[in-house]
Amino acid sequence: MGSIMEVLDTIEAARSALRTARAAGQRIGFVPTMGALHAGHASLIARARFETDLVMVSIFVNPLQFSPGEDLARYPRPFERDTSSAEKAGADLIFAPSVEEMYPHGALDTKVSVPALSEMMEGASRPGHFDGVATVVAKLFNVVGPSKAYFGEKDWQQLAVVRRMVADLSFPVEIIGCPTIREPDGLAMSSRNAYLDAEHRAAAVVLQRALGGGRMLVADGERSAAKVASTMWEIMASEPLADPLYASVVDAELRGVREVGAGCRLLVAAQVGPARLIDNEATFP
Ligand code: PAJ
Repeated sequence: MGSIMEVLDTIEAARSALRTARAAGQRIGFVPTMGALHAGHASLIARARFETDLVMVSIFVNPLQFSPGEDLARYPRPFERDTSSAEKAGADLIFAPSVEEMYPHGALDTKVSVPALSEMMEGASRPGHFDGVATVVAKLFNVVGPSKAYFGEKDWQQLAVVRRMVADLSFPVEIIGCPTIREPDGLAMSSRNAYLDAEHRAAAVVLQRALGGGRMLVADGERSAAKVASTMWEIMASEPLADPLYASVVDAELRGVREVGAGCRLLVAAQVGPARLIDNEATFP
């Protein structure tokens, strides 16, 4: 803490740096990322800075969670800028391993999977995605050994998958969910927003508008989840540059509901030109 930020690229180097800190009684806060850092990531790092003694940020574009044909090759990797934003936000250590360091045989023979929460919504159009997430997060937890790990609510289903994995497998880490940071017009910040040209960028606010429409219906007393979901879908479909992927109303276990109640979440996804975008909000403020 307070020293110059270090960048580590091997599991052994990360382990030994953290071993010293842990032996000195420091609580480790961990923020896993795929880089291309923005204010959303910075908010997680700042929260970790506030709540723990030593903040580790990982930057690893994880091939396991990309489907064939997805954007693995073109995913932005502005490494210099990332290390400086991480440091500004409060990181003490960066763990930035190569693919070979994480997956020396190209893949892993072990897979962590949370099927009950992985197959709907994001999982339906991205088969294997959450297995890839759960597996890399489990591996990173074993390297870092954090007391607390920080995840964004923007990726609501991912947060649920990680929480369930940690509970089921008794990982000794507390998962902290952090609110979604947005652009001034409401678009959720995302590394993938960089793919949008001006026209598609303007169209992308339709996700936020759909959630707003859904919430407004609920506030007006509508309790049919099907009605709320179809309204959100129609709002997205009314934008010519957006192709809706799903519009869902789910309970805390990510199960579809018939009636909207407290604790329900609205989730939407759309393809907007080159970018696959997602967003979600609580039904009740
Ligand atoms: P990445 O998309 O880089 O996101 C890293 C973390 O930042 C995630 O917990 C994500 O939910 C959070 N985040 C992204 N946008 C946010 C926003 N606008 N507001 C608040 N938090 C935001 O999610 C991943 O990487 C990967 O799947 C990972 C967990 C690192 C595993 O590979």
